Amino acid sequence: MVMKKEENDALTLTGVDTPMGKLLRHFWTPAIRSSALAADGAPVRVKLYGQKFVAFRTTDGKVGFVDEACPHRGVSLALGRNEGNGLRCIFHGWKMDANGAVVDAPCEPAARRERFCASIRMPRYGVREAAGVVWVYLGGGEAPRFPDFEFNTLPADHVCIRRAVVPYNWLQGVEAHIDSSHVGLLHSGFLTVNDDKLEPATRANLAQMMSDKAPTFEMNPTPYGLQESALRKMGDGSTYARVREIVLPFYTFIPGPQDGPCGGRMSVPIDDETSAEWYIVYDPRRPLTKEVIDTTFFNTSDDPDNFALNMGDASNLWGQDREAMKNGHFSGLTTNLSFEDFVVQASMGRRYDRSQEQLGSADIIIVKVRKMMSEALVMLEKGGKVPWLEGFSYPAIRAQSLVYGPTNSWRDFSREGQEASANS
Ligand code: FES
Ligand SMILES: [Fe+2]
Repeated sequence: MVMKKEENDALTLTGVDTPMGKLLRHFWTPAIRSSALAADGAPVRVKLYGQKFVAFRTTDGKVGFVDEACPHRGVSLALGRNEGNGLRCIFHGWKMDANGAVVDAPCEPAARRERFCASIRMPRYGVREAAGVVWVYLGGGEAPRFPDFEFNTLPADHVCIRRAVVPYNWLQGVEAHIDSSHVGLLHSGFLTVNDDKLEPATRANLAQMMSDKAPTFEMNPTPYGLQESALRKMGDGSTYARVREIVLPFYTFIPGPQDGPCGGRMSVPIDDETSAEWYIVYDPRRPLTKEVIDTTFFNTSDDPDNFALNMGDASNLWGQDREAMKNGHFSGLTTNLSFEDFVVQASMGRRYDRSQEQLGSADIIIVKVRKMMSEALVMLEKGGKVPWLEGFSYPAIRAQSLVYGPTNSWRDFSREGQEASANS
């Protein structure tokens, strides 16, 4: 099934008036790490879906999220004075509060100032802070319930979230996260050469994963998207299952070691050719140790707002090390495992034209997800409801590694299903 260019455009373009842009704006989107904003500190520019915004933290600690352009005459509010619980434009002093309301316009006569301010239209966006991240809702109207994924509800020392800014379209990021069949190939170098960088439980998990490079895949449609299980038969008759949770449109959860830390990914558009890749490491049972955090972020840039700052670029093939390849590292991209994903996506071009690709049976999940997204666009265009927002419990979604005997199925262990029936 070859994708037409128009279909590729429909899935990848996210501007205000595009079908996918309208769909994605209905989902709470991670915008910026909370620590980037200090009370009365410098406002910070944030770009999402090609739109320009400014985030600021008020004197009282609330986060404001407004269009970058001043509603008066368009001066950048990134230049604004952040003081007295509001952001004041430096041109004529209009002031916006944390809710995006204009509360002062000093050049207007005092007698009519209040009424004048109340008459100014300024888009209002939903803002929430959770897990050290500022989340925004840009969809207009009433915001859907907040995605209180497990990592959004844990104590701070159980969660580590960092962002990478990468030069490719958001869908390339999502498709890398939901593509299981590359794991035993692209990432195999880290399992054989650099495995001393990984802590023992992770290593054991990866060794199980490497025992069979062609697992069978099963999927299970859910109200939020898909569960996908990679099944490997073990020598003793048991099955090793890795169950990935695909929460559309852009959240993915990847299993870690059994009873160990979990992984989350979010790939969101900064613009149509640049994305924010949010990487989440969390442990529901215990605080994270440095070793566990390093398992994901070893050798990456120290900047938690762009941990791929040191990834390099196409001019030197991202520092690919041919010598290491000769010595057994499969990809030669030896800095970090996540960079292997970023580099292959970046190498496809900033917005890959899927009409050129030729898919195989191992791409079944990608085909399925594209189909679900296309159908959602059609449904929305016809005035239907936004999918993937209702009928499930966010905190119950957790990717899992499972080992079970011949009489069981991976579907027996679904947390979402269990908790839903326990609550009913
Ligand atoms: S342009 Fe911002 S107050 Fe005039
Ligand atoms: Fe990967």
